[in-house]
Amino acid sequence: MSSTRARHWDEVFATRDLERVSWHRDDLEPSLTLLGDPEGPVVDIGAGASPLPDALLDRGWPAVTALDVSTEALEVTRARLAGHPHADRVDYVAGDVLEWRPEGRYAAWHDRAVFHFLTDPADQAQYAALARRVVLPGGLLVLATFGPDGPTSCSGLPTARHDADDLARIFASGFEEAAALEQVHTTPSGATQQFVWVVLRRTSEETP
Ligand SMILES: C[S@@+](CC[C@H](N)C(=O)[O-])C[C@H]1O[C@@H](n2cnc3c(N)ncnc32)[C@H](O)[C@@H]1O
Repeated sequence: MSSTRARHWDEVFATRDLERVSWHRDDLEPSLTLLGDPEGPVVDIGAGASPLPDALLDRGWPAVTALDVSTEALEVTRARLAGHPHADRVDYVAGDVLEWRPEGRYAAWHDRAVFHFLTDPADQAQYAALARRVVLPGGLLVLATFGPDGPTSCSGLPTARHDADDLARIFASGFEEAAALEQVHTTPSGATQQFVWVVLRRTSEETP
């Protein structure tokens, strides 16, 4: 499955105008506000070609991991950041999040528009277990998915839709909800998409 995913997304990033893809935004809110002040290493899951890593460096995050199943996407980010004074603080991880086994732990985990591609509840549970293991106690998981009235597909792939209660339930073990909000995203072609954002705080030190 992961190589099929990689092929799909590599083709997207190699062939599409990245300023016209439906998920493109110039505005990095509410990500930056919800992530808050730099507290330690941060990982952007399914970072794509988003300029979020650049903004996190600018805000003083000490280490930024950009993880994506598409090496094409990561190369866009690497090339863009080449001249950044803190480019050496970015770690690139090419791979499927479900297969990621990092050694270190993170103060913050960010995922915009990636979790909703996991339509199988078993994959969702596996993702939640990984986040529980990787996010430090007191750390934040900032997650944005399509909401209950959002699209049922994106980029030719089926998507799940979640409300905030649903997300809190999926991540109930090891996390507590700190905030939730709805966002209407306007795509470059002018369509609107409902997103649900949650901020979940890692609760305790129990062994994952
Ligand atoms: C809709 S785009 C969002 C990109 C970025 N988060 C943003 O907000 O611009 C989804 C991204 O998730 C990546 N992706 C999809 N499934 C993935 C998976 N299982 N593991 C890692 N990355 C994945 C894709 O390659 C793509 O970059």
